[in-house]
Amino acid sequence: MTHSFEELQLLFNKELGAYSPAVEPNNLQDPVTYTLGMGGKRLRPVLLLMAAEAFGGKIEHAMPAALAIEIFHNSTLIHDDIMDHADVRRNQPTVHKEWNVNTAILSGDLMIIKASEEISKIDVDKLKDVLKVYNKISTQVCEGQQYDLNFETDDQVTISDYMKMIRLKTSVLLAGALQIGAIIGGASVDNAKNMYCFGENLGLAFQLQDDLLDAFGDLKTFGKKIGGDIVANKKTFLLLKALEIAQGAYRDELTSLINKKDIKEDEKISGVLDIYNSLNIKAITEDFMLQHFNKAFDYLGKIDIPEQNKETLKQIAENLVGRKS
Ligand code: IPE
Ligand code: IPE
Ligand code: MG
Ligand code: MG
Ligand code: MG
Repeated sequence: MTHSFEELQLLFNKELGAYSPAVEPNNLQDPVTYTLGMGGKRLRPVLLLMAAEAFGGKIEHAMPAALAIEIFHNSTLIHDDIMDHADVRRNQPTVHKEWNVNTAILSGDLMIIKASEEISKIDVDKLKDVLKVYNKISTQVCEGQQYDLNFETDDQVTISDYMKMIRLKTSVLLAGALQIGAIIGGASVDNAKNMYCFGENLGLAFQLQDDLLDAFGDLKTFGKKIGGDIVANKKTFLLLKALEIAQGAYRDELTSLINKKDIKEDEKISGVLDIYNSLNIKAITEDFMLQHFNKAFDYLGKIDIPEQNKETLKQIAENLVGRKS
C-alpha cells in the first residue's frame, strides 16, 4: 500500500514538527524553527517519500533524507530572500526582515549543516550513493543561484541560458529528491535515472510556473510579493520571450522600463505587465510550461514498475499543473 500526497504531507509535517536543530543561542535557533514552521507545500520531501514507496521502500527508511531535503530547501529560501530583497514569504516576514541579514545568513548556513546531519542517518548500504546525488545537487543549486544573480545585470541572456539556470537552481533539487527516494527504495540504476529525469522536467515546469505566478499570481495564495522578479530585472522566461517578440514601441517601452533607475516599483511592475498582456506572454509561457510537464510524464512512463505504483506521483504532477501557491 502506498500513501497519498496528503497522508505523506501529514506524516512528514509530524516528523518536521518534532525536529529541532538543538543549538544556542536562541536567536540562531529561532529563525530555523520559524522557517520550518511557517508552512510550505513540502513538495520535495513528499516526492522523495513517494519515490521510495513506488519501489517498495519503507517511509521510515526514507524519512531522514526527506527531512534533509526540506531543511536544505528552506536554507536556500532564507538565503534567496536576502539575495532577491524579498520581504515576504509564505505570507510572513522573511528571516532577514524579522531578524536581520547576518542572522539570516548564519541560520541558513546552520540549516545546510543540519541537513547533512539528517541525511547521514540513512541506512549505511545506501549512504554512499545518496550522498553522491545530494552533494551534486546542492552544489548545482549554488551554481544556479549565482547565474540567476549574474543575469540580473546581463542583457545578452538567452532562453537557453535561462533554462540552464533554472535547471540548476530549481530542477535538480526536485530531481535529486526523487532519485534519492528511488535509491532508498531499492530501484535499479535505470529506474532511478528515469525518476531523476521525471523530476528534472517537473522542476523546469515548476520554475516556469513560479515565474508566471510572480507576475500574474494572487498575493494571498502565492504568499510572495507579486512583481518581485520584474523589479529585480530577473531574466525570467516571461521577460526573455517578451524581449524576443516585442517590436517597435513595445520594444522601446520594455527596454526603457528595464533600464530606468529612478522609476517607482509599482510603475515598473504595471508597465511591464501591460506589455506582457499585449504580447500574450502568459499563454505562451503556459504552453511552454505544459511541454515540460508532458516531458515529465513521458519519463514517468519509462519507469519499469507497475502503473499503480506511479499513480500518486502522477497525481502530484497533475496537481502542480494548476498550482496557485
Ligand atoms: C520555492 O519553492 C522556490 C522555488 C524553487 C520556486 P516552493 O514553491 O516549493 O516553496 P514552498 O516550500 O512550498 O514554500
Ligand atoms: C528559487 O528561485 C530558487 C531557489 C530558492 C534555490 P526564486 O527566487 O524564483 O524563488 P522564490 O520565488 O523566491 O521562492
Ligand atoms: Mg531567487
Ligand atoms: Mg526569490
Ligand atoms: Mg520566484
